Amino acid sequence: MTDSSFHPVLLILWFGLAVLVCVRSCREPAPYGRYASDAEGRSVASKWGWVIMESPTVLVMGAMFLIGEYNNTPPAYAFLAIWMLHYIQRTFVYPFLRRDEDKRMPWSIVISGVVFNVFNAYLNGRWIFHFSGGYPAGWLTDPRFVIGAIVFVAGYAINRHADYVLHRLRRNGEADYSIPQGGLYRWVSCPNYLGEIIEWTGWAIATWSWAGLAFAVWTAANLAPRAWSYHEWYHERFADYPAERRALLPLIW
Ligand SMILES: NC(=O)c1ccc[n+]([C@@H]2O[C@H](COP(=O)([O-])OP(=O)(O)OC[C@H]3O[C@@H](n4cnc5c(N)ncnc54)[C@H](OP(=O)(O)O)[C@@H]3O)[C@@H](O)[C@H]2O)c1
Repeated sequence: MTDSSFHPVLLILWFGLAVLVCVRSCREPAPYGRYASDAEGRSVASKWGWVIMESPTVLVMGAMFLIGEYNNTPPAYAFLAIWMLHYIQRTFVYPFLRRDEDKRMPWSIVISGVVFNVFNAYLNGRWIFHFSGGYPAGWLTDPRFVIGAIVFVAGYAINRHADYVLHRLRRNGEADYSIPQGGLYRWVSCPNYLGEIIEWTGWAIATWSWAGLAFAVWTAANLAPRAWSYHEWYHERFADYPAERRALLPLIW
């Protein structure tokens, strides 16, 4: 099977897999963070787990850019910059901001994260820099790109701020959990996940591609059920948890 026939087949499988991931996450949240358990077998220090798990996003996207036939255009550089803006921070900065010194991540999670990131970066990068046939220079002023980029930046800001609030909760060395306050935490339990979903929805719009859409669907399939689990967990854990706060969507859900 050649690369050109493998790509669309993988894309179809990717959408199907997102449904399975959603079902699995609804039944049982992935065992890391507050759901980490010794029963999951061998593990690695959480921050190094994040670095290993996220590295393919930078490496594979970089490789797709280099080998793509249509990499030397303003839209190609713009997409590379947007992707790297998110993933260089997520891979090499974010893990060291997390205040979870004693936390470990099972290798099963790290490996599944690596597999996801390799295929996802391949699907998106190969499309943008090669199979798309190249985005025209005028794409940067196309309403799809402009709206998608604005949505992406809004999601990025929400995600980064929400993660920052979480880091600050443990600024005095606490290891336990407390109720996050401020920003979108006023409205939802997981604004970091909301921001992430908004970001990749923006990416799907800006790239106007099935690969981008698959990534946005995967992100929602993975994070929406986890947001619901966190929301219920907060209510069980804290008797004074704000009643008006929703799980993921302000005023709705
Ligand atoms: N694109 C995707 O599909 C995808 C998938 C997963 C994650 N992500 C992104 O990766 C980032 C991290 O995800 P995550 O699942 O690790 O987020 P998370 O569970 O919210 O945890 C983030 C950090 O904050 C700490 N924390 C969370 N709630 C806390 C509280 N109430 N009090 C004190 N500390 C708290 C966690 O500690 P503990 O580790 O001790 O719980 C962890 O260090 C997020 O920005 C998320 O959007 C993206």
